[in-house]
Amino acid sequence: MQIKLIPVAAVCDPKALLGTTAVVFDVLRATSTIVTALAAGYRRVYPVAQASAAVALARRHGFVLSGERGGEKIEGFPHGNSPLEFAGGPGTGSSVLVITTSNGTGAIRRAASASPVLIGSLLNARAVARAALEQGQDISLVCAGTGGLFSLEDILGAGFVLLEILQQLNPGGGEGKSPEGPAMDDLAITACGLARLYHNDPLAGLYAGQHGQRLLKLGREEDLRWCAGLNRFDIAPVFTGEYITLVPDNNG
Ligand code: MLT
Repeated sequence: MQIKLIPVAAVCDPKALLGTTAVVFDVLRATSTIVTALAAGYRRVYPVAQASAAVALARRHGFVLSGERGGEKIEGFPHGNSPLEFAGGPGTGSSVLVITTSNGTGAIRRAASASPVLIGSLLNARAVARAALEQGQDISLVCAGTGGLFSLEDILGAGFVLLEILQQLNPGGGEGKSPEGPAMDDLAITACGLARLYHNDPLAGLYAGQHGQRLLKLGREEDLRWCAGLNRFDIAPVFTGEYITLVPDNNG
């Protein structure tokens, strides 16, 4: 099995993902928000790259609308991209969420040439590692990055999933790479090193990067604390090519 890490989804050649299982990361905050919403009871999440398309989709069906640009809620949108806005579940409203964010939602759509496409974060690292291994094929760890550059927190999320993969492949053998383990590219090896560095304090890892610092300046410390909750949820959401869900179905 080969595992490769794609540091910036926006410059990824979709052909490179063919025949692989993809796990997409936008740890701060899009994939953490999506994982939280589904764990809390949302049935589907539609990731939409363009804000205008998100508005149209939500209006047409009465879905819940959320959106972020530059770390802040899009003007006029009822919700932003804080996972804490969705941790309480849908309540009596629609259980379908439409989300548009600066980098994450586009990254998920760009990964669609892989099959399946799983949604990863620190919150569900163990579950998503298990789901990726169950596919029995090569794995592409696709990081959203920020503005076309790689983001530390996405590499960290990929690293935590990799440590889980190594542990699940070799349960008695610690987290080191065994000779029979998967072939990892150099970025994947680097991600493992980063995850080992922050293993006992994932929040410090989220504080370390530029986007984490930006969110702190915007007063989003509680979001970082939430997103640092390693293995909080035992779920592995799947992107169908249209929407993200825990249980793919065909009936509207
Ligand atoms: C993104 O898609 O770039 C992010 O999720 C930004 C954020 O809301 O922190």
